[in-house]
Amino acid sequence: MSNSIRGEYQAHGVDAFYEQHGATYRNPHEPIVRHLVQTSVVAWGLDISHVLDLACGSGEVTLALRALPTCGQVSGIDPYTAAAYQERTGQTAETFTFEDIAQGSLTGRQYSLIVCSFAMHLIAESWLPALSYHLSQNSPQLLVLTPHKRPDLKSAWGWTLTHELLHERVRARLYNRT
Ligand SMILES: C[S@@+](CC[C@H](N)C(=O)[O-])C[C@H]1O[C@@H](n2cnc3c(N)ncnc32)[C@H](O)[C@@H]1O
Repeated sequence: MSNSIRGEYQAHGVDAFYEQHGATYRNPHEPIVRHLVQTSVVAWGLDISHVLDLACGSGEVTLALRALPTCGQVSGIDPYTAAAYQERTGQTAETFTFEDIAQGSLTGRQYSLIVCSFAMHLIAESWLPALSYHLSQNSPQLLVLTPHKRPDLKSAWGWTLTHELLHERVRARLYNRT
């Protein structure tokens, strides 16, 4: 993350930052995201027949997945970047927040895989157990890309860490439903 983005997060808060800049969001680390997503899918044999790209930004993960021959349907969710996601992927993202999902907004859905890139460390720690639990009801596997040590997902919240990759100081972590 650049110092200027971190400064804006600290000054105005994450939500205010993305409310203001979401329409033009681009991840400057997109090549790292693409490498980690594609390497994870191939190396770990992930089922990408029906993927949720959670906090999908401008479609960094969606576009990386689409380039793979085994890719089926990829759906995006992000409360702030609908315009950027539409522009780059041609698809409409749903607008649920992490907090909505932690309160059950995705109940009843099934995906083969959920991917959350550069975003799960942004949620307040107090929401993480409920968010984790609800996501574990929606998919057998969760792939988290993070430039930080966080999020620290616990087995008791529904996910067990099974694989980890490091590339350019960004981690790809694969969790299986506990
Ligand atoms: C650093 S961007 C990552 C976007 C994309 N996944 C990527 O890899 O480039 C963080 C994303 O989290 C989203 N976000 C911020 N607050 C959120 C919240 N409370 N619930 C869900 N998404 C949120 C933002 O709109 C933004 O698209």
